[in-house]
Parts: sequence; C-alpha cells; structure tokens
Amino acid sequence: MKVNENTPREIVFATNNPHKLHEIREIMGDCWSVLSLAEIGCHDDIPETAATLQGNAEIKARYVRERYGYDCFADDTGLLVDELDGAPGVYSARYAGEAHDSEANMALLLENMKGKQNRKAHFSTVICLVMGGETKFFEGRVDGEITEERSGASGFGYDPVFRPQGEDRTFAEMTDGEKNAISHRGRATRKLIDYLSTL
Ligand code: IMP
Repeated sequence: MKVNENTPREIVFATNNPHKLHEIREIMGDCWSVLSLAEIGCHDDIPETAATLQGNAEIKARYVRERYGYDCFADDTGLLVDELDGAPGVYSARYAGEAHDSEANMALLLENMKGKQNRKAHFSTVICLVMGGETKFFEGRVDGEITEERSGASGFGYDPVFRPQGEDRTFAEMTDGEKNAISHRGRATRKLIDYLSTL
C-alpha cells in the first residue's frame, strides 16, 4: 500500500517524552501523523524489563499494538561508555536511581568519569516497529566522548555531557536540526522512514 501524501497515516510512537516526539515529528514530515501514548489514551507505565535495548523497544511496541490496536514503534536508547564497560547502557534512564532524574544521572556519570583519560562513548538507539503481523528493528549509533563538565541547554538527558566525534559542541549546544542530522535516534528513524516509504 502506498502512503497517500495528502492523508497522513496514523502511527503511535510509544512515548510521552515531548522532546522525542518533537524530534521524531520533525524527521517524519507530513506523510505520517505520529501519536503519543497520551493521545491514544494510554497512561500505563509500560514495564521495561528486558536486558537489552532491542528487548525493551519490542516490549513497548507490542504492548501498544496488542492492547490498543495501533501500528506502533518504540525506541530504547542507551549511552555506552567504554571506560565504564558499557555502562550506563540499557540502564541509562535510571543510572542514579528509579527517579529517572537526568541531572542526577549526569552528575553520577561525571563523578564516575573523574580523572579518566579515555572518554569515548556512544549512544545507541533501537527502534522496534510492530505493524500488522510484522516486527522490524532499526538501529542507529553516534560515537563521541563524555565531556569534563556540562555545556549547553538544548536537548535532554545526557546531551550536555556528550560531544559527538568531530564536533566542538555538545548535543545540548546544537539546534534540533543539527542534532537530528547525526544523532543515534535520527539515524535509526531515517532507517524506519526508508522502510515505511516502501510500503
Ligand atoms: P530512552 O530509552 O530513550 O528513554 O532513554 C534512556 C536514557 O537515555 C534516558 O535517561 C534519556 O534521557 C537518555 N537519552 C535518550 N536519548 C537521548 C538523547 O538523544 N540525548 C541524551 N540523552 C538521551
């Protein structure tokens, strides 16, 4: 089935994070109407109990498809730091505890990286799409390093302490467009869109 450019097709992005919704809507353009969990009346705290990014993305996308009947995609992202053996990784959101507090997560990361020479890290995003009977995965990665201190006020999460390779600014010092062009989620999302455009 071809996507009719005049009639956006509805698809749920299994998140209520306004920053992510904004980013995804910018990238997805006009062919798709991207609905949040709140917009379909889903206020459930969907459990993210898998040990991998892929597993958690699949849990969320399946949950929406099975309980709410919408085609859905979900993402799970981790920040993997070489010197910390890949931590915080799949636990990035709750690195400093169950409060999911970005400030506390960054503070703990900077503390754990104090005095470390090797500051290499990467963000990895896995998107799981559950559409009809099909399940597909799309991955995106961006390499960079953890800065010594926070810089910038844009974005969210660990953006103020992550400087992508070849850049002299952190993600939090970039515009949405600049970040999307090179980010983990931008790359994974463009693969998702390439796939959707073939349907
Ligand atoms: P989630 O799986 O997308 O919820 O992300 C897990 C953790 O990584 C959360 O603490 C987010 O704040 C953080 N995170 C996800 N995407 C980004 C990003 O693009 N920049 C900075 N932090 C992010």
